[in-house]
Amino acid sequence: MKAWQVTRHGDPAEVLELAELPRPTPGHGQLLVRVLAAAANFPDVLMCQGTYQVRPPLPFTPGVELCGEVVESNGDEFGAGDRVIGGVVLPNGGFAEYALMPEGSVMPAPAALDDAEAAPFHVTYQTGWFGLHQRAHLQPGETLLVHAAAGGVGSGAVQLGKAAGARVIGVVGGPEKAAVARELGADVVIDRRSEDFVAVVKEVTDGRGADVIYDSVGGDAFRRSTKCIAFEGRIIVVGFASGDIPQAALNHALVKNYSILGLHWGLYQRLNPDAVRTCHTELTRLADEGKIKPLISERLTLADVPDGLRRLGAGTTTGRLVFQP
Ligand SMILES: NC(=O)c1ccc[n+]([C@@H]2O[C@H](COP(=O)([O-])OP(=O)(O)OC[C@H]3O[C@@H](n4cnc5c(N)ncnc54)[C@H](OP(=O)(O)O)[C@@H]3O)[C@@H](O)[C@H]2O)c1
Repeated sequence: MKAWQVTRHGDPAEVLELAELPRPTPGHGQLLVRVLAAAANFPDVLMCQGTYQVRPPLPFTPGVELCGEVVESNGDEFGAGDRVIGGVVLPNGGFAEYALMPEGSVMPAPAALDDAEAAPFHVTYQTGWFGLHQRAHLQPGETLLVHAAAGGVGSGAVQLGKAAGARVIGVVGGPEKAAVARELGADVVIDRRSEDFVAVVKEVTDGRGADVIYDSVGGDAFRRSTKCIAFEGRIIVVGFASGDIPQAALNHALVKNYSILGLHWGLYQRLNPDAVRTCHTELTRLADEGKIKPLISERLTLADVPDGLRRLGAGTTTGRLVFQP
């Protein structure tokens, strides 16, 4: 089978090599799947660079989530022919013709979504749902601010915020991304390149600020979020796409009565798999009702993986890029 491999750390476009490898063999509790579509996620870029919290031994095939057809099952729940979504067993990731999946993280692919739409449904929307509901307890009528609102996890959070009855403010970098955020349903869109998001958030909330802030960018996005978070507001720390991991001023959190909530969705898979299943049922219902649908900005082929990851890392993509072997 064809598979992209990282044999040394560095930027994806420089270190990914296309290899001809034998199909991997599923171990206990694992599924061998034919990859129907694999989504590009920021952690794929970081894993190529060797800067992510998970550092698979070299060589490995990246691609942390996919939609696939089960070819061989060593689990109890899924069998050959099932269309599934979920995470992978590294080093046999999704940027290949075949991959391994751990049955524990696998869910049935929602019928409402095609293969490309289903591939990024798992990480993006589970992360959004756990962040907004389990961690921040977002309420109807509250104001939700989403950073990188036209990006992967951001676009999912905008849709989930609207589905929850919140007023959504999207912050984006550039006019094209602003148009995407508006199309996704954001009520207010702020271009961080030409506007001061703190001033606009205060203006549109009559000085109160945002009740919940979903921050996958870190750095200045986090630091300035503390200037426009509402009384009893919640800032969800989702990621650091800017590459800058900020320090929190706890005296500021104290005097303004706001909470800083860490979110590591992967830990729920390990420590509370029942909650992940319940979430999948809820997300599938929302997809069936047409309330959420992954924004697939580009449907690409396996050959496009290095360039796609390069552009994702540079922050120039919108929604999700999906690779279909
Ligand atoms: N906590 C969790 O459990 C969890 C789960 C999944 C993902 N994540 C994290 O969420 C983050 C976003 O992942 P994603 O795949 O959805 O990526 P993405 O949001 O599609 O891409 C990153 C976006 O961040 C913004 N950005 C701001 N400064 C940037 C810079 N210096 N370089 C690159 N981008 C910059 C850009 O949007 P604008 O130009 O519009 O600002 C860019 O499009 C990652 O850090 C990932 O690790 C966390």
